[in-house]
Amino acid sequence: MSTTSFPEGFVWGVSTSAFQIEGATSADGRGPSVWDVFSADRAEACDHYHRHSEDVRLMKDLGMAAYRFSVSWPRIFPEGSGKVNEAGLDFYDRLVDELLAAGIAPYATLYHWDLPQALEMIGGWPVRDTARRFADYAAAVHDRLGDRVDTWFTLNEPWVAAFLGYGSGVHAPGRKSAADAFRSAHHMLLAHGLATQALRSAGATRVGPVLNISPVMTPAQVSELGRELSEEDAEAVARIDALANRQFLEPMLRGSYPAELLPIIERHGGLEHIHDGDLDTIAQPVDLLGVNYYTPLVVQAQPSETADPAFPGSAGVLFCTVPTAVTAMGWPIVPNCLSLLLGRLSREYPGLDLMVTENGADFVDTVTADGIHDVDRISFIEEHLRALSSAVADGARVRGYLVWTLLDNLEWSDGYQRKFGLVHVDFATQRRRLKDSALWYRDVIRRNGLAETRPKRPTLETVAARAGVSRATVSRVVNGEAAVSADVRTAVMRAVKELGYVPNAAARSLVTRRTNAIALVLSVPRQGDSLTAAVVQYVTSMLEGAGKQITLMLADTAESHRRIVQQAEARLVDGVVLLPPDRSDTLAERLSRTGVPIVLLGKPAVTSLVPYVDVDNAGGAETATQHLLARGRRRIGMICGPMDLVSVQDRLAGHRAALHRAGLQPLLALADLTRASGAAAGRQLLGDDPGLDAIFAATDQLAIGALQAAREAGRRVPEDLAIVGFDDIDAASATTPGLTTVRVPLADQALALARLLLSRLEGRHTTSVVLPTRLVVREST
Ligand code: FCB
Repeated sequence: MSTTSFPEGFVWGVSTSAFQIEGATSADGRGPSVWDVFSADRAEACDHYHRHSEDVRLMKDLGMAAYRFSVSWPRIFPEGSGKVNEAGLDFYDRLVDELLAAGIAPYATLYHWDLPQALEMIGGWPVRDTARRFADYAAAVHDRLGDRVDTWFTLNEPWVAAFLGYGSGVHAPGRKSAADAFRSAHHMLLAHGLATQALRSAGATRVGPVLNISPVMTPAQVSELGRELSEEDAEAVARIDALANRQFLEPMLRGSYPAELLPIIERHGGLEHIHDGDLDTIAQPVDLLGVNYYTPLVVQAQPSETADPAFPGSAGVLFCTVPTAVTAMGWPIVPNCLSLLLGRLSREYPGLDLMVTENGADFVDTVTADGIHDVDRISFIEEHLRALSSAVADGARVRGYLVWTLLDNLEWSDGYQRKFGLVHVDFATQRRRLKDSALWYRDVIRRNGLAETRPKRPTLETVAARAGVSRATVSRVVNGEAAVSADVRTAVMRAVKELGYVPNAAARSLVTRRTNAIALVLSVPRQGDSLTAAVVQYVTSMLEGAGKQITLMLADTAESHRRIVQQAEARLVDGVVLLPPDRSDTLAERLSRTGVPIVLLGKPAVTSLVPYVDVDNAGGAETATQHLLARGRRRIGMICGPMDLVSVQDRLAGHRAALHRAGLQPLLALADLTRASGAAAGRQLLGDDPGLDAIFAATDQLAIGALQAAREAGRRVPEDLAIVGFDDIDAASATTPGLTTVRVPLADQALALARLLLSRLEGRHTTSVVLPTRLVVREST
């Protein structure tokens, strides 16, 4: 079979981190870390502290050449500094010996976010001394392990530790201060430099940092990489690149901060913490740069946007969602960004050795009697490896690839729900089970490459043909049903074995009547409604990510309703996502009576017990109207879309409520969902009331129509007439002047919908979800 192969000596392995797998948080004198204090989840994790031998054996069986683990600082210095806890070092001593005996190279990361709580108590990373304590700790670990560990990573993803830990506060220690975040980042850089010096002077020869580097691009560039940018977008992209990537790359590899970053740091608490000489210390020669890549950062210029707390200095930049396939984490899957970023690093830092130290994906796994068939994870890794290989072909010096991660584990603030492992862990029993991705990765390692096409699994049909029986019979045999003769059973099992058949959900479904299929039921899409299509696309990709098969069904006639209900009654689907029709209609109720779990996208026209996901339409309209009032507008017209749409009714209600409080009467004009009808309604409003000073449109497409009507009537926006739209942020950013709009979270809606359905499938009690909207102010008001 022809393969995509990798350079000789290319290193294959996995990465993990101490807090996420070790557990045993008070064993052998370990002190608390900031994560013990911050995390709401129980800390046993994978109990790797006690089960490391089993885990090393697993890695050996899979053929791993390298294992990147992190050392837990509070095991070594329970008090943060002072006396070394030898018992803590003993653990890593044993681990390293076992790895070496298994032929696996140990790669040690010194800091993967578990700062000793004792150091946080005296100031944490915003305090300079923490950097010096880190260098002492690095030296102590090297002292014990340096004779056997030859690859040392100083810090893992300092951006995350500094800006999520001290900026947005979603990670430990949960502080929220832009100034602290920048100070932390600088002290982490310094810690890297001091630790590198300490390691080198103790004899280490291969030392480097691990950075999470995210290519930064606009939504348009996600589909067309070479796309030219407007000046504003180019500035937004460069600024976020400086904050996320170059803030770390350039001090470490060039000995200076990016020029545009310094004024930003200065504005957030000053520059006093950056001492003379620091940058020389930070810029120690790096032997190997570890690169963690998961997903790009997608942004565009958006003057009204306030700064994201994880990116202080990002005011005027909108972080966008893009309609691509996503993992269960909601992270867009964009493999070619990995080649892009490896190519960029190789060009900008020629001669630097690179290693992909983390890449992998969270997908919902289904444990079946015959294994965990995590095909999405396999595809994810495979596509990224193809991207990596093309970067290598173009000259990037990539020395290896480490999957994140070996085991399902404790994913920081997200707890145990995230499944990034090649190996499944049952947290009740700590039993480990190899997923298909682990076996597939073993084969990649064996052949040092990818097969041209992934071998197709033999199907139920092939087994049935080989054994000369029906598909139903094969299904009965593999499901252990009794009513099959011994001869037939033997014949089927022989065929199963010879063909290497892995029974899948479809085979079982013939017996268990679970189909794994989800019906996505749509009413006829309205012309002009692109948002629903986007949400549907996201939901589909998420549910497919969770291993479901999606069947689209159109609910446009009474006959089609009958057919859909019948399919649910016959259990041809496990669950239904329904876009409730606009008019009062009983499809949702009829479907829910079949007992099949069902969820709705959008609040239904008739009150129902079926849970739905929607955005706060009334609240959004109220805020938009209040904004116009606050700008001094008094004669405000509203362009309503079709009044049978529940979302339009709610937007009208919110608009009325705000006017009512201001003692004003609504002025309404009706439209459908098209721009042309928005223009017509705009003309009508302007004609009816020459003193009109604002228009609130129920959608952005209608608002764009209103812009056109204003232009025709010679009215200047916003001087004579202010205009606000709703819900289509992309369309609203493409107009001149840019439209003020109410932004609705597309991807979040889809995520909530997928989660709601999955919980219903598990039989959990669920309630409706209403997501907040947000006013984005631009030039049109
Ligand atoms: C990276 C972290 C790692 C894990 C993955 C999903 O940012 O380094 O610990 O959380 O993301």
